[in-house]
Amino acid sequence: MASEAVSIIIVGASGDLAQKKIYPALFSLFCQGLLPGDFNVFGFARSKFTHDEFRVKISSDLPCHYTPDAKECADNQKDFVARCHYVSGSYDSSDSFLDLYQVMQDTEPSRDVNRVFYFAIPPSIFMDVADAIGDAGFVACDGVNPWSRVVIEKPFGRDRQSSDTLTRELALIFAEDQTFRMDHYLGKELIQNLLVLRFANLIFEPLWNKEFIESVEVVWKENSGVDGRGGYFDKYGIIRDVVQNHLIQVLSLVAMCPPDRYSSSSIAEKKVKLMRSIATVQVDDIILGQYKDGKCGSKDVGAYTSDDTVPDDSITPTFAKVKLSINNDRWAGVPFSITAGKGLDKHVTRIRIKFRHVANNIFCDAGVCPEANELVIRIQPDEAIYLRFTNKTPGMGMNFTSKDLDLRYKHAFDEIIPDAYESLILDVIRGDRSLFVTKEELEAAWDIFTPVLHEIDEQKIVPLPYAFGSTGPEAE
Ligand code: NDP
Ligand code: BG6
Repeated sequence: MASEAVSIIIVGASGDLAQKKIYPALFSLFCQGLLPGDFNVFGFARSKFTHDEFRVKISSDLPCHYTPDAKECADNQKDFVARCHYVSGSYDSSDSFLDLYQVMQDTEPSRDVNRVFYFAIPPSIFMDVADAIGDAGFVACDGVNPWSRVVIEKPFGRDRQSSDTLTRELALIFAEDQTFRMDHYLGKELIQNLLVLRFANLIFEPLWNKEFIESVEVVWKENSGVDGRGGYFDKYGIIRDVVQNHLIQVLSLVAMCPPDRYSSSSIAEKKVKLMRSIATVQVDDIILGQYKDGKCGSKDVGAYTSDDTVPDDSITPTFAKVKLSINNDRWAGVPFSITAGKGLDKHVTRIRIKFRHVANNIFCDAGVCPEANELVIRIQPDEAIYLRFTNKTPGMGMNFTSKDLDLRYKHAFDEIIPDAYESLILDVIRGDRSLFVTKEELEAAWDIFTPVLHEIDEQKIVPLPYAFGSTGPEAE
């Protein structure tokens, strides 16, 4: 019988992602009884901590929302951290990983333990770690029983070529079906709901095409800046940071054709087909911006280049508005756009689908017609779906008002909305790849943007300035 025991090895356990997302998600799964009985978590990084020091460090971010009773939560935290161990070492040393292996052997319940290797480290050291793990003989070769899986986080390369290199080199250690490319947006509740909304309801799919839809926009705004993450961000910029991955994934779920069945391969196939029909983006399709001094509420905030982690002369864009066209029968001629920016006026991610006006609308008066319908899916914050439609304004006369049918998750559901990392980590343990990025999706997504990214880099295109806290560059 296949073993259910699992060890989760978090490489880069001292970092921000591990502390803020991975350990809290594992704890949430533990509180819901969703982790296998025999699980252990092994943190690995260069920083020196004893097991106990490390347990204290991670405890501060373990959330109690699944166990609001203070005593129950404290008991759960104690039980959970007792399963968390820590080893320090060098990322490129198989000896360090053999030290880790020794600790694992002393802890694990048997030899048949399944393993998740979670790379919570900068991409520049992915291959050092993969090679050291491979050399230490850690990875189960057949990948079946016990299985070994690796989780890597975006960014997967800087362009098509570097992404292919990473894919090829990683495949020497982990086969494609052992590789889980994490794009955490795919784990967000409203993004998971896109397929259900579109394909489990009768009313949308017949209208989901160029005959009825006028435009589709995906908007991603943060009202914070890089806040000390410039070391990473400045090398990538907003297109590589969120557009080529998170937002193209969202757009492909919105626009893809119905999969033949609910299976990861069928969904991935349709997503790839959609991405392959997006016209390669040109420089003229993009407005780039970079935030300058401005305000967040009443507080003054400095420009992007005033962040200590950003070079003073940086021309890395913190804002992009990208026009996209999809060359297929369903969408030909419908404008799609993605707008993404840091240091803007609000924090929101939403999809807005604007429907066309009613043909021959009998309520048009002197050429002025009631507003067209809109479907808005607000991914965050305050998850909601609303459908704007025209009504007669109550009272005498025939006047019109647009109102929203408003589905706010907070009011509509009693359930706690899980963090994206909870859903995705559970899927890794269960071996469900539906919400992970396949090699083909990755290639197709890079092909949309690689030529224009190279052109922007080579021509050193200077982004337009915009004030922190504004809606973006004026040319928008
Ligand atoms: P960190 O910068 O916090 O790095 C994680 C750990 O890696 C650090 O604690 C450090 O551990 C080690 N490390 C950092 N820089 C180097 C270096 N140059 N050489 C060797 N080791 C280094 O990263 P995050 O935790 O923020 O992110 C980890 C991964 O997840 C990255 O790929 C990132 O792009 C991705 N990601 C992060 C998100 C987040 O919310 N933070 C969101 C989405 C993706 P030590 O010094 O102890 O070895
Ligand atoms: C990360 C980006 O992938 O997503 C960050 O690197 C961004 O720049 C973050 O801030 C946003 O994630 P979320 O889940 O807070 O919207």
